This record gives sequence, C-alpha cells and structure tokens, in this order.
Amino acid sequence: MPLVSTRQLLDEAAKGGYGVGAFNVNDMEQIQAIMEAAKETNSPVIIQASRGARAFAQDNYLYHLMLAAAELYPQIPLAMHLDHGNSFETCESAIKLGFTSVMMDGSLKADGKTPATFAENVEVTRKVVDYAHERGIAVEGEIGVLGGIEDGHGAGGSGLEHVTDPDQAVEFAELTGVDSLAIAIGTSHGAYKFTKKPDGSVLKMDLLIAIHKRLPKTHLVMHGSSSVPKDLQDIINQYGGKLKETWGVPVEEIQLGIKNGVRKINVDTDNRLAITGAIRKVFVENPEKFDPRDYMKPARAAMQKVVATRMVQFGQAGHAGDYTAISIADMAKGYANGTLSTKPLVAAR
Ligand code: 13P
Repeated sequence: MPLVSTRQLLDEAAKGGYGVGAFNVNDMEQIQAIMEAAKETNSPVIIQASRGARAFAQDNYLYHLMLAAAELYPQIPLAMHLDHGNSFETCESAIKLGFTSVMMDGSLKADGKTPATFAENVEVTRKVVDYAHERGIAVEGEIGVLGGIEDGHGAGGSGLEHVTDPDQAVEFAELTGVDSLAIAIGTSHGAYKFTKKPDGSVLKMDLLIAIHKRLPKTHLVMHGSSSVPKDLQDIINQYGGKLKETWGVPVEEIQLGIKNGVRKINVDTDNRLAITGAIRKVFVENPEKFDPRDYMKPARAAMQKVVATRMVQFGQAGHAGDYTAISIADMAKGYANGTLSTKPLVAAR
C-alpha cells in the first residue's frame, strides 16, 4: 500500500471505535520495530517524525525508510506524520518531501517555547490547512498548551497550566478546518509527567468529553500519552541508569479517551525507555560485546513489544485489512468538494 493519509486512518478508527497509536521515530531500527509490531498485530499505524528527528536522521533518509516500510508491508495502512511543526515553512517542507499529514502546533510561537495568542494560532494553522488540503494532506492543530518539552519543543510546565477551553476549541475548529485536534487535558511530553500515581481526577477527562460532544467530526489527539511503565524504568535503573521515580498516563485513561473521540495517541517516551533498558542490559551483562547488532537487536525487540502492546490496548489491532488506500489525489478532491470538511457548522448541517 502507498503511504496513506492520517485522515483516512482516523476516519476508519472513528467508524470502528478504536484509537491509532502514533509512534515517533528517528532511525531505521525504530521504524522496523513499529512495522513488525503492526504486522504481528495486524494494525494500521501512524509513524511520526519531529523536527528534531528530521534534523537527526536527515529528511531523505527518513522518507526513503518510510517508503521501504510501505513497500515491505503492503498489507499495513501506514501514514507518515510531522509531529509538532512550528511554522508554515516546516509544514510546507514536510509536505513537499512526502509526509501524508502534518501537525501545525500554533499553540506556541515559532520558537517552539512561547505560548501564542489564539489569533496567531488560528492564522498560521489556517494557512497550513489551506496549503495542505489543496494537496490532499491532513492537518492536526493544537489548542491549549501541552506540558513538558520534547526534542527542545514545548512550553515546559505541568500540562495543567493551559488546558483547552471547549469554546475556543470549537471556534478554532470552525476557523481553521483542521482534520484533528490535539487538546491539553493535563498530559505532558517526556518521562516526568506525574510525581505520584495519577488517579482518575488528574487528567481533565471531563474537558475531553465536552469537546468531543461539540466537535464530533474532529478527531481528538492525545499527546504525551506514554504510560512510563515501572518495569521499563526498573530495567534502566537495574543496569546503572538513574531515573527518578515517575508516573505516566494510565492506559485506562487513554481507553476512556478513545471511547470519547480520541483517535490518535502519541507515544515516544515508552519506546525510548524500552530501547535504553535493553541496551544497558547488554552493556552490563556482556561488557565484552562491541558489535552494534548485539545491542540494537534486543533494543528493537524491546520496542516492538511495547508498540504491539499499545496497538492491542488502543484497539487498532486486527484492523489493517479493513480498507484499501484512498489516494492522496482523491483526498484533495474530497477537501475541495467539502465531503471531508470537519467544520462544526458544516458538520451540524
Ligand atoms: P510521550 O513523551 O508521552 O511519549 O509523548 C510523545 C508525544 O506526545 C509526541 O508528540
């Protein structure tokens, strides 16, 4: 299957009532781990690269690795997504390269740190939507500001400082026409999300439910959704790491989100932890080894295990064969004739 639009994956997920994990990558082994997990569980999947990943791997390497993945796993619907684009130019360059969806994170200014005004966010996001939809490419926006910092991008803080206002979310969706919307409900990027086990009241699930009721056609996105499992922390610390005690987002909260309109779930940290733990283990147990394959193989396998587990938990497992690809050219036609519109006023008609 060619690379498909994230919008198609999310529309199908909405029909089937499940979520789709969007896993971050920087290199070949991470792409391989995700694709093997998708094959193992028969799952559609979104692979995403941040600006940091693009700088690390170089655009052409990343793109051709993604093409290889699509070629090697023709049975898997696979979308290539830009995570946290900070400007029109970043999104434009991703679209020109071949990404099938982009996130324009206009919740922050182009420095990727300072919260932007609502008007600034609308202006840059709408510009990206106009450009992207004309070319059949889907756009994720963000309203409210997530906590933490990932790859140098983020306002920092706890994630509860700028939670999404439902009225603003509706206005934002109407003014921009984004396909999907990242909302801030108390999650944050990175390993250090919560200092104690979060109970049901920590995340603002009531906000999420309210937003979904008012924006039923806009797919909701949960960022910062790693669960930071204790066993992965323990392996790192057992083999010489120094992670402080921390808690992530409980999978049950994500599953509650999926019941209420969350269709894309971003996971990066859990995979980083799995890879690092596996490599540390080899280094400590077999200090004589020096062939990178001796530690990259277990690292890749450890990541595959985490991704496959999430695919089952998010409900995407078993759905790879449900549909065939809509071409990006046909997606462009759908945007042009309004059938793919998510604007609340259009949706209400
Ligand atoms: P985690 O740091 O929780 O994995 O979140 C990743 C993310 O949201 C990428 O955009």
